[in-house]
Amino acid sequence: MDHFLYKDGVLHAEDVALTEIAAAVGTPFYVYSTATLTRHFQLFDDALAGMDHLVCYAMKAASNQAILKTLGDLGAGMDVVSGGEYARAKAAGIPGDRIVFSGVGKTADEIRAALTGGIRQFNVESEPEMQVISRVAVELDVTAPITIRVNPDVDAKTHAKIATGKSENKFGIPISRAREVYAMAAALPNIEIVGIDVHIGSQLTQLAPFEAAYTKVAEVVEQLRADGHNIRRLDLGGGLGIPYTRSNETPPLPSEYGAMVKRVLGHLDCEIEIEPGRLIVGNAGLLVSSVIYVKQGEDREFLILDAAMNDLIRPAMYEAHHDIVPVLEPAAGQEQTKYDIVGPVCESGDTFAKGRDMARLASDDLVAFRSAGAYGAVMSSEYNSRPLIPEVLVNGSDFAVIRARPTFDEMINRDTIPMWLA
Ligand code: LLP
Repeated sequence: MDHFLYKDGVLHAEDVALTEIAAAVGTPFYVYSTATLTRHFQLFDDALAGMDHLVCYAMKAASNQAILKTLGDLGAGMDVVSGGEYARAKAAGIPGDRIVFSGVGKTADEIRAALTGGIRQFNVESEPEMQVISRVAVELDVTAPITIRVNPDVDAKTHAKIATGKSENKFGIPISRAREVYAMAAALPNIEIVGIDVHIGSQLTQLAPFEAAYTKVAEVVEQLRADGHNIRRLDLGGGLGIPYTRSNETPPLPSEYGAMVKRVLGHLDCEIEIEPGRLIVGNAGLLVSSVIYVKQGEDREFLILDAAMNDLIRPAMYEAHHDIVPVLEPAAGQEQTKYDIVGPVCESGDTFAKGRDMARLASDDLVAFRSAGAYGAVMSSEYNSRPLIPEVLVNGSDFAVIRARPTFDEMINRDTIPMWLA
């Protein structure tokens, strides 16, 4: 469920008509709903009720300060994967003891910044990384809390580009080597083992792969404890999928996921951390765009939008489906047609949908891409010198621009001319 509904024939974000936002900020833009963000965070928090837990929002999905602050105020922790994300989390007021640091290639500088500013734990992905964390912790005379991310060699049954839990993927250490690598960690100075970490992929639409991975993790935890390690925290990663089409997708609910976690891991009596990104923000955001032209091709009609692949890369990159709906609700019985929906960028890959059934549209009509809140704005670029588009946050009947559209000059002035060209 989300808070983007038609009211009086106009698609709204909560109580604000999208036509009103479009008039104020121009198109294209991203818009997020506070009520949906809150609801989705709460669903996870409730799903783990009865277990000591922390929901660490995977901020790679959408990292605007206003989104982080909204979730942080609800008590969310953050899962960060770069020095930039760590700085964003801190800037949004998230305390260090609610920030976990994931990612396969943490640099010494990133590790130093996190150890200085405060960190809940590093999710370690390799032996050399563990050694660098130890070295930097010794330099700073602090103790670095760590978990080790294990790769359980489980098929997440998702798009190959976002599956991370198979042995051929670059992530984690093979679960078969867990005892050896934990023994190495225990022998390193200024390292404190606090738990274990696993994340097998994104947009999972079944519980079975999670359960297979968590079952393997539970076995390994028993072994590690027998080896004398203090495993008190389980970081279970993110990955729970969302319905991208209204009709035929029913991924498991957070409550079902939570019940499975309790069943498979409850006996270990650990603190649970999860790192959901997409489920919190995916269906809390829309991309709103205008039709520039309707173009008649040889055997099809193209709807040419002012949004393009640089604004939303998911269809080009993952063959992802996004529902695209008119902002003005079509009248009952209005003529339907099929469109290839494309952007203005000079590549055929700049195609959002092919042969999509839609009500007939004309130049200047507004459309909204649903489920665009996660991995939308954060993956955008200025390809074709198209400035990054604004982000807007709605809260009830209020809305605010939370990232403004840069002017052409602001975009151009980030370049500098070397002295030999001046
Ligand atoms: N934790 C770790 C260690 C991750 O690598 C990820 C996502 C998450 C948590 C959050 O996963 P989520 O709950 O959002 O599925 N750009 C792609 C998705 C990439 C996911 C990368 N890792 C897309 O647009 O589908």
